Amino acid sequence: MALPSLADLDLREDRVLLRVDFNVPLDGHGNVTDDTRIRRALPTIQHLVERRCRIVVCSHLGRPKGKVVQKLSLEPAAARLAELLDCEIVFAHDVVGASVEQLAQDLPPGGIMVIENLRFDPREKEGDDEFAQALARLGDVYIDDAFGAMHRADASIAGVPAHVGRAAVGLLVESELRALGRVVDNPDRPFVAILGGAKVTDKIGVIEALTRRCDALLIGGAMAYTFLKARGEAVGQSRVEEERLLLAKRLMERCADKGVELLLPSDHVVADRLADDAEPSTVDVIPDDQMGLDIGPATVQQYADRISKAGTVFWNGPMGVFEIDSFSSGTRGVAEAVAGAPGYTVVGGGDSAAAVARFGLTDRVKHISTGGGASLEFVEGTELPGLKAIKDRAARAAR
Ligand code: 3PG
Repeated sequence: MALPSLADLDLREDRVLLRVDFNVPLDGHGNVTDDTRIRRALPTIQHLVERRCRIVVCSHLGRPKGKVVQKLSLEPAAARLAELLDCEIVFAHDVVGASVEQLAQDLPPGGIMVIENLRFDPREKEGDDEFAQALARLGDVYIDDAFGAMHRADASIAGVPAHVGRAAVGLLVESELRALGRVVDNPDRPFVAILGGAKVTDKIGVIEALTRRCDALLIGGAMAYTFLKARGEAVGQSRVEEERLLLAKRLMERCADKGVELLLPSDHVVADRLADDAEPSTVDVIPDDQMGLDIGPATVQQYADRISKAGTVFWNGPMGVFEIDSFSSGTRGVAEAVAGAPGYTVVGGGDSAAAVARFGLTDRVKHISTGGGASLEFVEGTELPGLKAIKDRAARAAR
């Protein structure tokens, strides 16, 4: 069953419930500090406005754990959306209920309303079906354009499609699936994957999946020290997941069995502590009293060489503590190599997308995913609950 998309729907003044991922950073004073996710939802919203649909936008923001947490209100995101679209937007201070349904009924053709943070209601994370039905009453058509949250089985994602007349994915989700699909199915070779970040634990699934698909795996970030220690190298005071050493060893053996080249850092930027004012130095062997906080320049050069020869590059996770200038060169070097690579380049969201933005390289990467966890799970080959729900609904309707 093909996945229904926005283009498959004949829309005119319909009532649309649009799930987006407006989980954006806020400065605590009512301002959105990075509006990328809001901007990336604009094509779908504009498509609906052009068809004079009455649009109810819903999203989660942060993890308020089923309680009203005022600093996680979606109101600043709604205000930013209004600025970007240069139009009035109604904000509903409740998530569901009679007053929200009335506001939705009163929307004029082409009108937009944003409802309050879905996660203020505990039933959202519980995947509660009554809550899904209450949301479904806000629209006759459901569009899921929240790629970053499609790996969550929350009520607004996995539950709503069963209760609406029509359901489809939006334009952002389509573009994410096209780009990540190109990485997963028949990537241009060589396929080089770069993985960083703090923990091996977070990346086990994706590493296992990538060993079946990629030609080279370049490892950086704190997770590299668990691999280095498993290989018997000195890691000093670096962050290591002791309980993952065996697993790291097994993953390295698996790469060797499958003919995947696994590269670990050969030099390091170290310091005696993780702090803004810590004194950095570059070493080949990490001394006992120092910790690795970034990959070194020789490693950057080696990784950049592989990246420049790749047909496809997938990058997820920073190479070091890039938020601190002294430990940002490794992540910057890899970001520049990805930006300059002639192959097809995809950056999985989260910290690596933030790093690319910080170095001003966003426009030079072929695709930057809005999904951190979602893009990893997609690359792992997991069926995302959000996609499954829309496919299941379409299959039922076709029977
Ligand atoms: C994200 O930022 O990755 C998505 O919005 C999902 O958020 P969550 O991890 O809190 O479910």
